[in-house]
Amino acid sequence: MSRYAEVYAASQRDAEAFWAEAAQDVTWYKRWDKVFDPYAGQYGRWFPGAECNTAYNCLDRHVEKGRGGQKALIYDSPVTKSQRSYSYSELTLEVATLAGVLIDIGVKKGDRVIVYMPMIPEAVMAMLACARIGAVHSVVFGGFAATELATRLDDARPVAILSASCGIEGARLVAYKPLLDKAIELAIHKPNACLVLQRPMLEAALTSGRDFDWAEAVKLAKANGRKAGCATVAATDPAYILYTSGTTGQPKGVVRDTGGHMVALKWTMKNLYGIEPGEVFWSASDVGWVVGHSYICYAPLLHGATTVVYEGKPVGTPDAGAFWRVIAEHNVSALFTAPTAFRAIKKEDPEGKLIGNYDLRGFRTLFLAGERADPETIKWAERHLGVPVIDHWWQTETGWAIAGNPVGLGMLPVKYGSPTVPMPGYTIDVLDDKGKPVAAGQTGTLAIKLPMPPGCLPTLWGNDARFRKSYVEDFSGYYSTSDAGYRDADGYVYVMARTDDVINVAGHRLSTGQMEEVVAQHKDVAESAVIGVADDMKGQLPAGFIVLNAGVTRDQREIEAEVVQLVRDVIGPVAAFKNVMVVKRLPKTRSGKVLRGTMRAIADGEPWIMPATIDDPAILEEIADTLKGRGMGSKANPSA
Ligand code: COA
Ligand code: AMP
Repeated sequence: MSRYAEVYAASQRDAEAFWAEAAQDVTWYKRWDKVFDPYAGQYGRWFPGAECNTAYNCLDRHVEKGRGGQKALIYDSPVTKSQRSYSYSELTLEVATLAGVLIDIGVKKGDRVIVYMPMIPEAVMAMLACARIGAVHSVVFGGFAATELATRLDDARPVAILSASCGIEGARLVAYKPLLDKAIELAIHKPNACLVLQRPMLEAALTSGRDFDWAEAVKLAKANGRKAGCATVAATDPAYILYTSGTTGQPKGVVRDTGGHMVALKWTMKNLYGIEPGEVFWSASDVGWVVGHSYICYAPLLHGATTVVYEGKPVGTPDAGAFWRVIAEHNVSALFTAPTAFRAIKKEDPEGKLIGNYDLRGFRTLFLAGERADPETIKWAERHLGVPVIDHWWQTETGWAIAGNPVGLGMLPVKYGSPTVPMPGYTIDVLDDKGKPVAAGQTGTLAIKLPMPPGCLPTLWGNDARFRKSYVEDFSGYYSTSDAGYRDADGYVYVMARTDDVINVAGHRLSTGQMEEVVAQHKDVAESAVIGVADDMKGQLPAGFIVLNAGVTRDQREIEAEVVQLVRDVIGPVAAFKNVMVVKRLPKTRSGKVLRGTMRAIADGEPWIMPATIDDPAILEEIADTLKGRGMGSKANPSA
């Protein structure tokens, strides 16, 4: 029997009592004045008056309680053919030392620090060192280009940047330092200092007076016994800023608070993921994404579990058995990744033959999130791994699952295509356009009744107005997730699509609006539309349609290639923007709105209906012909 219904009901009956009890699992320097203040912030604040430190709760606390000798972090890097691990005592020393270095290069409590790093232990150390001194980190995913990094520099205005000389993408070395230098050149705000970890496979030239060699600085600090203690910060102070895609080129700086974040994440480890302290929890994501923040860095360590930092891919490093090797070698109890990783494995090893090469007896559960988990992928994983496969739904903004199947409370029956039920603290309603809840089975916007539970964003960095406009103004009393879906008669949630122009490519959240802004920078482009089209492996892929300026006679394929390169240079390889088509004109409504939805339906080969408001019906036929020429879509009967 699952305890879910009882626990969820308790969270609904008295949310403050529920979270006050969960907060007992965190060590506080000072207790809160109130569990929740509904009048503070944008929709209330959790644990005002309380004081704490996240790094203390992730590290020192466990050492004090006798966990010092246990592995805290395992680094497994098939791309460098190396492995390393740190006990809780060792990781505490590394983080305290690095925190001392941060202070010495001028970082103070409340200052922002950008972390632009590959998947190496130092990335987690950097995050925790910031937390230790009360600095606010902002991790930027390595697959973003210099311009994206510059945008974040100007928004977060960091005092320092922590980076590495390179990342490794399969067989390709990605030089980070030139991107970093370019970003600093582009940004109006300049950091005072950069700490650069030199990796032997590609060392970087350091800029005198600004750049410091990470390893040398740490070595010197260790020789001098330099360590920083844990600063006291308010529970409501920001722990970090994580930028995520919105509808424009300006990414949203999602703010995470300190106290609520710890309380929520700690609660999930046992109750949602069913993990005990001392067990190994592996999140095969990247520290640049929210999943990496919550479940590579913070939650496993808050819980006294062991986390895995994996520098590799599900396939190709060296083969589709990579995940099973890591699980077997490190005795992983639960793996958390995106469905796309499993689709990639399934494509390479459809029969799951490589699974048989490894001893997976210690492996209990697979968790999937980041995009809709398609039933075929879930069934394949269930069949070949013989463990429960749990889809759960969340966003950068929430920092933890909105809906899931709580393994620790006792699993509920799995319904394929559904991430199951709301987690405690979340009241999910499906709303129509007027903000009225709809009946079971009917589709609408999935909205969370305010207040949001602990751990969810209190606001956007430096932009309360954008927070209100983006999330809480559309439906009074609710946070709008911008996801559309429905709930069935049993209350199971189904998340079907975004209601905005955000797309999900290989579990990465991207803005087509932002891509359009970049495409528009090309001198020959008059106008453009970027849509997400269905892709078997990555879920969605961006496709761009461009109309050229009158009089442009250059080779169209050449222009298309330049546009592809432009997006790669400005946004980064992560955009996976490789599909661009020159078209004569874009289909629009009579009021000039581009019919992206209809274009997407054509590209996906779905039946489409000629919109009544269309300006010129012939244009949709032209788009269908262009797509067909590129082997995409189908020219379905418009009246279907
Ligand atoms: N630094 C630099 N470049 C990066 C990068 C990084 N950290 N991460 C990805 N890139 C590059 C890739 O090399 C690729 O470049 P290419 O166009 O030259 O091939 C491009 O960005 C697109 O990356 P991606 O979409 O991830 O495709 P991929 O083919 O490299 O890998 C998967 C596909 C499915 C194996 C991979 O996306 C994956 O494992 N995803 C699931 C896990 C995950 O990270 N989820 C996030 C949230 S849980
Ligand atoms: P991100 O902020 O990058 O984590 O992306 C969040 C978005 O990914 C959500 O708004 C959804 O559109 C999508 N998403 C995440 N998890 C799921 C899931 N389990 N099912 C369906 N969509 C999901």
